[in-house]
Amino acid sequence: MPTVVIANLKSKSIHCEDKRESLLDILLTATDWMHACGGKGRCTTCKARIIAGMEELTPRTKPEEQYSKLNKLRDNERLTCQTFLNGDVTLEVPKETQLPHLTYLK
Ligand code: FES
Repeated sequence: MPTVVIANLKSKSIHCEDKRESLLDILLTATDWMHACGGKGRCTTCKARIIAGMEELTPRTKPEEQYSKLNKLRDNERLTCQTFLNGDVTLEVPKETQLPHLTYLK
């Protein structure tokens, strides 16, 4: 089963038990993660910056393409609520969506 590593959160490692879960749902099993619209693809607060394993993620969805055109989602970023895993991925929490009660490495 795929593993998710959050590089700037002490390299926290999460083992995905069910590949039908979104990346957001996987992250929420092990840490707090911002998701203002509740995972509906209507905000960008759930985004993650992908460091390795981009090829292991499902293709961008329509909301992600729209946010990309608006320059609200960079090429190396994904909306975690719109993304599913096929293999291991290493990511980090962007500065703008870091939560105040967690300690990030950068
Ligand atoms: S939680 Fe709003 S787009 Fe993912």
